[in-house]
Amino acid sequence: MRALEAACEVDRYEGTIAIPHDELVARVRGKQALVCLLTDQVDRALIAAAPELKVIANIAVGYNNIDVPAARERGIAVTNTPDVLTEASADFTWALILGITRRISEGERLVRRGEWKGWALDFMLGTELRNKQLGIVGYGRIGRAVAARAEVFGMRVVHAARDDGRDKALALAMPLDRLLATSDVVSLHVPLTPETKHLIDQPALARMKRSAYLINTSRGPVVDEAALAWALRERMISGAALDVYEREPEVNPDLMKLENVLLVPHLASATVETRTAMADLAVRNVLAVLDGQPPLTPVP
Ligand code: DGY
Repeated sequence: MRALEAACEVDRYEGTIAIPHDELVARVRGKQALVCLLTDQVDRALIAAAPELKVIANIAVGYNNIDVPAARERGIAVTNTPDVLTEASADFTWALILGITRRISEGERLVRRGEWKGWALDFMLGTELRNKQLGIVGYGRIGRAVAARAEVFGMRVVHAARDDGRDKALALAMPLDRLLATSDVVSLHVPLTPETKHLIDQPALARMKRSAYLINTSRGPVVDEAALAWALRERMISGAALDVYEREPEVNPDLMKLENVLLVPHLASATVETRTAMADLAVRNVLAVLDGQPPLTPVP
């Protein structure tokens, strides 16, 4: 805020939850730059209401909340915050992998309910990761950073090959169906696009091993939550850990009833260091464009 206020007149939304869409549309009128969050729907109507807009700077690496074609038609730069959140997001993915396979939140709930009766040889047994297969769906920056940590846990890594043949030469790439059928942990790192919506649906879940775990730190709608609740209830898979949801902040009530799912509130990049770096990068994008320079991190 200090950097922005030193350079521009700033209209700051002070609310603690997402700004109502109507209010955002009204307030963006006459502005040259918009710094927004993944909870703000920057749609065609909003873009049309802001004829002076030059830059939309999303404080997130994902930008499915922005109508990029509508912005491009108007020559508006759209920027995101890649790289600065990669390591925090990869660390958090591993926290979820360990959390669900070693039943950490399930155990914590039991302790807090006062139901722990004491140590027993066969009590709350989890699953080890060593010599198991980690399947990464979406082998971009974060997917690769998650893969880089796998060696420490003794896991071998495979990743889903893209349909367009670009990954053919990569030794670890395999078709998604085969990845799902052979992996012990499947971790999702794809952006949300029309092609990836419900990528993990009932047939995909049915393909997974009954002993496998699904981890989602990408975007909620990549997974069909109703199908996931079915797969977890019927023990078609062993467990899931979710950081993101189809209709945030709502969580599917069927998932809430299950013990074999770890649910956290979209926290993968939530460290002081990373969120500060994300905000700083968004501001630097705005200042560059307003200064007539190219943006630092335009969306692809
Ligand atoms: C993103 O950046 O897209 C994450 O979901 C929030 O850090």
